[in-house]
Amino acid sequence: MLTVKKFNQISDIIYTQMPQDHYRFIEEGEDYDVALVRSAQLGEMPFPKQLLAIARAGAGVDNIPVDRCSEEGIVVFNTPGANANAVKELVLCGMILACRRIVPGIQWIRRQHEEGIAGVDKRMEKAKKDFAGGEIAGKTLGVIGLGAIGVMVANAAVAMDMDVIGYDPFLSVDAALRLSRSVKLAKTQEELLGRSDFLTLHLPQTAKTEGMINRNVLAAVKPGTILLNFARGGLIDDDAVIEALESGQLGRYVTDFPNDRIIANSKVIAMPHLGASTLEAEENCARMAVAQLKEYLISGTIKNSVNFPDCEYPLGEGWRIAIINRNVTNMVGQITAVLAKNGLNIEHMLNHSRGAWAYTMIDLIKKPSQTCLDALAGIDGVVRIRLIGEER
Ligand code: MLT
Repeated sequence: MLTVKKFNQISDIIYTQMPQDHYRFIEEGEDYDVALVRSAQLGEMPFPKQLLAIARAGAGVDNIPVDRCSEEGIVVFNTPGANANAVKELVLCGMILACRRIVPGIQWIRRQHEEGIAGVDKRMEKAKKDFAGGEIAGKTLGVIGLGAIGVMVANAAVAMDMDVIGYDPFLSVDAALRLSRSVKLAKTQEELLGRSDFLTLHLPQTAKTEGMINRNVLAAVKPGTILLNFARGGLIDDDAVIEALESGQLGRYVTDFPNDRIIANSKVIAMPHLGASTLEAEENCARMAVAQLKEYLISGTIKNSVNFPDCEYPLGEGWRIAIINRNVTNMVGQITAVLAKNGLNIEHMLNHSRGAWAYTMIDLIKKPSQTCLDALAGIDGVVRIRLIGEER
């Protein structure tokens, strides 16, 4: 029985995939083998030694100390694309909210009721002139970051008759194939900034992207640009955005990541991190997170990890040793030498690396002894060894 710690409320769909006769779910306690998380901050949290993996039901992993996890041999998974449609729909909604005075109009109607003012059906025809707005068709949308969400937003905006310019220096082949041919690709961010009426951000918050929407960037946008941020609050330099809203350089700032300072500005349209909050997205994310965790537990397969390479090979009859090691010279040489010394013949072996880390899966017919496993664990640079076979 393996213990799964849930750090947040996650869709109940997980119980159909991880039956409770095989997996024990806890919400409190320090003793667990894998973890499921949505937005809980795990930054400073000490992890149990036996923790094998953390799955984030969502795309962003800024709430997880990924580097520390790598050092501790903990595989971190996310669920790219699983909530992309939900976020896309809210971005479209955000654009429309920014150029039509829908919310003030709704609030006016509500006030008529609350203040007991009769005859709304007659009075509204006169009042509506105060709530007139603009359309998004024919306007230009700049999309920074063309991953799963950015591509969907770009394609949907094309379908709504917008001109769309995208920028992503790391555009994947897969994303490029899914992108509408009507989306123009900018070679530099500057090229996109000066041409966009709406600017939407779809990239993760990392040390490189933190505060990227700064004074320089905002000086390069078209006056009156509507900025949309359904990615992460940390991408924004709050002082710069507040100044740009005050000067009119930004027309509106629509954000799913408000804070006390930013909401003081009346040109800010803020939502309480609702991008992925749909039943469909929550189920998709939970299903994908749990499937990835299970595959890792059962066969050692790594898919959609943010700190280790993808590594997949069908599990055969015998035993599999899964090794997390530093990506340094002669690791495979040292590992195979230990196996040879213990009289073990390798049936199949995979060794994939990603940056500073590597993952090695070795299939054997004969069960390795504890002495052999201890010798592998003792190799300088190996941070975790797992024997897969017995628990199947
Ligand atoms: C994400 O990173 O995909 C979202 O923040 C998910 C969420 O709302 O939990």
